[in-house]
Amino acid sequence: MSQNEIAISVQGLKKSYKNVPVLTGVDFEVKTGSIFALLGPNGTGKTTIVKILTTLLKQDSGNATVNGFNVSSKPDSVRQSISLTGQFVAVDEILTGRENLVMIAKLRHLKNTSQVAGELLKRFGLTDAANRRVSAYSGGMRRRLDIAMSLIGDPPIIFLDEPTTGLDPEVRIEFWQILKELANGGTTVFLTTQYLDEAEQLADRIAILHEGRIIANGTLAELKKLFPPAKVEYIEKQPTLEEIFLAIVGKKEEN
Ligand SMILES: Nc1ncnc2c1ncn2[C@@H]1O[C@H](COP(=O)(O)OP(=O)(O)O)[C@@H](O)[C@H]1O
Ligand SMILES: [Mg+2]
Repeated sequence: MSQNEIAISVQGLKKSYKNVPVLTGVDFEVKTGSIFALLGPNGTGKTTIVKILTTLLKQDSGNATVNGFNVSSKPDSVRQSISLTGQFVAVDEILTGRENLVMIAKLRHLKNTSQVAGELLKRFGLTDAANRRVSAYSGGMRRRLDIAMSLIGDPPIIFLDEPTTGLDPEVRIEFWQILKELANGGTTVFLTTQYLDEAEQLADRIAILHEGRIIANGTLAELKKLFPPAKVEYIEKQPTLEEIFLAIVGKKEEN
């Protein structure tokens, strides 16, 4: 891969909190315009990785670059290249959808703030609700507005930390569709999830974080190859990502 095909590159990343190691040597790369899912149960260090990559936290050692910029030496350039959406929707309830978008556009020093807001409202199907207060929005509408806000200024890389935790199934599916469209348009999407099916449905590549390291990283097809299909008479059973995960984790713990 040439340098500009790689949106995120992480080598030997380590982080401890008060001598308790959380990351013990994390390595991975994310291709530009792809959807990369970092998968792991609660407490494995997903948010820690997101915070380091978005310059909110410093690693103890190792290197990370985002959009070609080193997170330690060029944090401002990294911040200008990204947006970050957390698990909890960050919209202002008292403002309307349009006002929320205009506010962020102003914070990002854009000139044509009302035009930017109008285009995003249209793109996310919120034009009719634009002048209603967000307190009257459904969960799905809030999530769409949240994503719309994160796209202001066209950041080439977006980080989403457990974006669908607590969402209804229909809203999740709609949300996956939005992320797929973004990646098709060239945006790099880095997301963390605890949901195996989400990684399976959405991601071009899946990395599994376990005990401070990435223990598997590949396309769904590649991960499935790690797990030989069980043959029952003449029918091949395709393993689910959950079975792959358990097989890899189990294998590791036997070592
Ligand atoms: N500021 C902190 N101080 C001490 N421990 C922390 C801090 N932040 C996270 N941790 C611990 O580090 C581990 C990884 O946390 P986190 O990165 O939030 O995991 P995840 O996002 O995968 O749930 C957890 O055991 C958590 O309790
Ligand atoms: Mg987390």
